[in-house]
Amino acid sequence: MARVLILCSSTDGHTRKICERLRAASQDVGHDVSLAMIEDAPPPAPREFALAVIGARIRYGKTDRRVIDYANRHAGALNAMPSAYFSVNIVARKPDKNSPETNPYVNQFLRSVAWRPRLVEVFAGKLDYPRYGVCDRLIIRFIMLLTGGPTAPGTVVEFTDWQRVDAFSARLNRALAPGPDHGLRVANSTAWGTPGGCVPRVPAEEHVEVRAPWP
Ligand SMILES: Cc1cc2nc3c(=O)[nH]c(=O)nc-3n(C[C@H](O)[C@H](O)[C@H](O)COP(=O)(O)O)c2cc1C
Repeated sequence: MARVLILCSSTDGHTRKICERLRAASQDVGHDVSLAMIEDAPPPAPREFALAVIGARIRYGKTDRRVIDYANRHAGALNAMPSAYFSVNIVARKPDKNSPETNPYVNQFLRSVAWRPRLVEVFAGKLDYPRYGVCDRLIIRFIMLLTGGPTAPGTVVEFTDWQRVDAFSARLNRALAPGPDHGLRVANSTAWGTPGGCVPRVPAEEHVEVRAPWP
């Protein structure tokens, strides 16, 4: 049994739902999982855990500043342990933007932090117009109109590929299993981006903000 930290940034609850699924799968194989929200004051430090996973939603082109600050503040500890990151956004519903290598927000995030997660993923999020306020709904419907997405005001759709979430979860659990190294254990920068590591080749540029458009 290992201690696992899942740190979550979620506004409308969908990233939290993904985190809860990861937690359940990890608990099923006997791990002791702490699921913390980025707004918890303060979120737990990673060094007491065997694995740290950070999942963060995108809103108006941005990852929550607190996630970026956390990743930079704890970069030393995170880089010295198995760690994983995933982003949740609607752009990832597009086949040409749904891998860590091609999703603009993943690249944006990795350029903003000194943390080098061993495993990186991206999941398409949820569209839930009835839940949004008037302005958000209007803006997002307009963006969907421009990008060929659903615009009917009652639309609620999960674009998330849950099998892919489960595959990610299985990789996390394998990394904690005794036996051969599954790609999450090595904590040196040269191993970053190794085959199966699913990590885009983004140079470390601390605090560089790149504004990604909604493609
Ligand atoms: C106000 C608002 C702004 C959003 N901005 C973006 C964006 O810039 N790019 C994107 O790909 N998705 C964007 N999304 C989609 C969210 O990333 C998606 O709905 C995700 O599932 C939200 O996760 P959460 O429920 O954990 O907050 C936005 C959603 C909302 C409601």
